[in-house]
Amino acid sequence: MMELLKKLSEAHGVPGSEDEVREIMKKELEKYCKVEVDALGNLIAKKGNGKKKIMLAAHMDEIGLMVKHVDKNGFLRFATLGGFFDQMLLSQRVVVHTKKGRIWGVVGSKPPHLMKEEERKKVVEYKDMFIDVGAGDEKGIKKLGIEVGDYITFDRSFKELPGNLITGKAFDARLGCAALIEIMKKVRTKHSIYAVGTIQEEVGLKGAKTAAFKINPDIAIALDVAPAGDFPGVKEEESHLKVGSGPVITIADASGRGLITHPTVKNLLIRTAEKYKIPYQLEVGEGGTTDASAIHLTREGIPSGVVSIPTRYIHSPVEVASLKDIENAVKLVTLSLENYSPMT
Ligand code: CO
Ligand code: ZN
Repeated sequence: MMELLKKLSEAHGVPGSEDEVREIMKKELEKYCKVEVDALGNLIAKKGNGKKKIMLAAHMDEIGLMVKHVDKNGFLRFATLGGFFDQMLLSQRVVVHTKKGRIWGVVGSKPPHLMKEEERKKVVEYKDMFIDVGAGDEKGIKKLGIEVGDYITFDRSFKELPGNLITGKAFDARLGCAALIEIMKKVRTKHSIYAVGTIQEEVGLKGAKTAAFKINPDIAIALDVAPAGDFPGVKEEESHLKVGSGPVITIADASGRGLITHPTVKNLLIRTAEKYKIPYQLEVGEGGTTDASAIHLTREGIPSGVVSIPTRYIHSPVEVASLKDIENAVKLVTLSLENYSPMT
């Protein structure tokens, strides 16, 4: 599991360029499932042949950047793909993915030596930032093979922390992808289980929408991360989710504009957790949302829910999560699938 988590976290894939992640998942899932890739790039793995269909979804994309413009001196300007707190971008080492291969660069900024007192207190906007790949000028950029539209990710390796914790980039939602693989390996049911590695979640829940239409499942569960609040500066009433206290069952997200979990799925998850004494936490979120928001509005409506791994510092390259929570999420979803018995 650790090896798989490391591989998935260190793989690079912004929205629309999920190939590397898809290859890793495909290799793993092929061992236990029938696997196909749809027209947009979703990875769909199927196990079982029952009449009832359950869809699981975890998004393969991570937030990242895209080359928007190259200036005379060979510095790159970029667009953002996904939600960023701009300050996080400064001083990151990044990877530019070109046709010819990978080029390393840095998001540079003025040293404090050159700043006025006032400037030091301000957040720099991403539009004022640039990436230095050491090109020197436009010619240098051409030589490196960098073009407008190349995508850019963070250069950050996966590490273990004390207390069964892990840190790295793209935990949103590669932890979900890892859980998905483990679930498909373990699950034994009379239903048909479809596990989908979805594309372009961070820019509009796109892959989940088309995959759900194709599969037309009876119910669906998205696997993602949820913002833990167990660190300085977050009040308990803002987020009571704690890393290590169990997987998160979403009751509602984005103040109900994203998803209000269908009672069928909510009850299935909570009853399973209670029955097997799996620790869990309930979430009523006001911010982000997940693939389940798109899935539940597909076709004539698909009862959907979310199981998340509580994670600190989401949408940064230093996310922190607990192995125990991932294991318990796998257990919770696997047993829920095995215990699902629809009325008809
Ligand atoms: Co996200
Ligand atoms: Zn996510």
